[in-house]
Amino acid sequence: MQRIAFLRSVDIRRADPHLHGIAPALAALGAEARLFHTHGDAGPDLFPGTSEKLHPGATPDEFVDRVRAWGADAAVAISLPDENALRDAVVKTKLEALGIRTVMTPLAATRVLCDKWETKRVLESYGIPTPPAVLLDSDLLNDRTLPVPAYPDAVRLAARDLGYPLLAKPLWDSTSMGIAYLPDPAALDRHLAARPQAHAVLEKCLSGRLCSVDIVGADGHYTVMPLIWTGTAGGPPAFTFEDLRHADPTRDDDFAPTARRLVELCAGLGVEGSVNVDMIHADGVYHVLEINPRIGGATTLSIAAGGPNTFVALLDILTGAWPTRAPAVARAERFAIECLTANPTPALLAELRARIDLVTCHDLVIDGHDHGGILTFTVDPGDERRTMKELTALNGFVPAPMLDKIRRLLLPTAR
Ligand SMILES: Nc1ncnc2c1ncn2[C@@H]1O[C@H](COP(=O)(O)OP(=O)(O)O)[C@@H](O)[C@H]1O
Ligand SMILES: [Mg+2]
Repeated sequence: MQRIAFLRSVDIRRADPHLHGIAPALAALGAEARLFHTHGDAGPDLFPGTSEKLHPGATPDEFVDRVRAWGADAAVAISLPDENALRDAVVKTKLEALGIRTVMTPLAATRVLCDKWETKRVLESYGIPTPPAVLLDSDLLNDRTLPVPAYPDAVRLAARDLGYPLLAKPLWDSTSMGIAYLPDPAALDRHLAARPQAHAVLEKCLSGRLCSVDIVGADGHYTVMPLIWTGTAGGPPAFTFEDLRHADPTRDDDFAPTARRLVELCAGLGVEGSVNVDMIHADGVYHVLEINPRIGGATTLSIAAGGPNTFVALLDILTGAWPTRAPAVARAERFAIECLTANPTPALLAELRARIDLVTCHDLVIDGHDHGGILTFTVDPGDERRTMKELTALNGFVPAPMLDKIRRLLLPTAR
């Protein structure tokens, strides 16, 4: 293997610093990497290889042409969110027809996992709890096809059976975009009257703790990465990165049985690479909200907490070194913590590096919108007090409510 193409959509900065872990693996293979990406910059500080930029709307065929023109003999997909994962799955199908092996979940499974309703069907068939829901067909609501005057009433009655509050979640989309909170029948009436444009799942809104887990692997051999706690659920959804996000090495929370079933599902679907599973933990049960067929917002944290490096794992899958290097379960060995901050300056970055175990801190830009800085750091067991002091000394860089949450996590006896 000489030339390995990496397929990417959003800014590669979010893969920092763990993406650099592939450099030694590439050197050992005597291979070079090139990033084929649609957004952001990709200098050598961000990607250990060369890069080629495609326009944001690049089609699968345009990707295939560019990858072939470079002379790649293999490819690895690391795009997000779902619409770009689907593109990568199409590119995989086309590249593999040309003899270019591509690490990515096959198209049929990717299609299922991009769609929240289809995903629910699969979860149910594996006996994995998922909030009860009905499909909200926007074609029928908008009279786009056959007129079905009884359809809105059919939805209302189904909603009554599910029980309020409910959420209407578009089948596609990510980071809580487009989700409507419907506390009562009147809210559903307003939602239906507004003629939603996209199909959605109308789903029971559960109260509990939000969490997320990555599962990485191929061919029936999977690693369950450390569980990441991402906030609380129960009302209108907050922006994905709004709350403190963390891995906690001191808690187990009896995740193993759910993890085993999720691995069975991955094996059954033929997942190749990474999936990212969003869940709500309520009354001792993990309810799965969705499975994203790709790396996700929790990938950096789960690697930092002690999981294997996902990007190296993808190369291992490519070369066949997987599964010998795949632990079945990777537990958190340290705290890994992430929160939104002020936008970092070079001086602040230097200070962060000196004071805490910094993983990364950069501007969080999604769809052109700057959400401020996002800070990711780890805390080894025993280092909680010192880290807390250092963070406090950073004087307002970490917003006070976040600092409070970090304190309660790291120093629970100080509550
Ligand atoms: N059934 C539910 N009960 C309570 N909150 C939910 C439920 N489904 C989704 N949410 C909220 O909406 C957010 C996004 O939902 P999710 O299904 O992960 O869709 P996506 O991430 O694709 O927007 C969750 O993080 C959570 O805050
Ligand atoms: Mg999600």
